Amino acid sequence: MHGRTRNQFYTGDADWAAIARVKDAVGVPVFTNGDITSVADARQALALSGGDGVLVGRAAVGRPWLLGEIAAALNDRAWVGPEADERCDAAREQLASSLDCYGPRKGLLNFRKHLAAYLTAEDVARETVSALCRIDAPADLDAAIRTVWPRHDMERAA
Ligand SMILES: Cc1cc2nc3c(=O)[nH]c(=O)nc-3n(C[C@H](O)[C@H](O)[C@H](O)COP(=O)(O)O)c2cc1C
Repeated sequence: MHGRTRNQFYTGDADWAAIARVKDAVGVPVFTNGDITSVADARQALALSGGDGVLVGRAAVGRPWLLGEIAAALNDRAWVGPEADERCDAAREQLASSLDCYGPRKGLLNFRKHLAAYLTAEDVARETVSALCRIDAPADLDAAIRTVWPRHDMERAA
């Protein structure tokens, strides 16, 4: 359940407490959704809604490991975040899946918004993000992705 009305669309904050009224009224499991972007949000959303679990949408775009981080925290398991090469691999794997699923043209176009999210989460310069999002050949894009992560990590370490 997304804690917003239809008319709100994505304005305002999701109302996690309102979901508690749904939870009380129905006899099926209720999953709490809307504006959950971290472990702390997930905990608070569950505390306020009494939900049986959380669902995360936008915050996982470009950061798919967030789901593992939240799942580990809610189940009292240790969690180690992905290293730069694993984050790079995640983006490359998603590019490959997108191409497989939608074909070369639509697959590449569809992937661009995800790539922008991955790179923005890495603090990559906006011009670099734009440059990568203009690459038209899937193989060139894959090669460019491989160069961005290590280079970026070296810049950070310097
Ligand atoms: C790009 C996008 C596509 C979505 N598509 C669907 C959909 O097909 N069906 C659906 O029930 N909700 C859809 N949603 C709503 C999400 O499932 C979720 O309820 C909403 O994004 C709020 O959660 P969030 O704040 O974690 O993103 C979509 C949301 C986004 C941003």
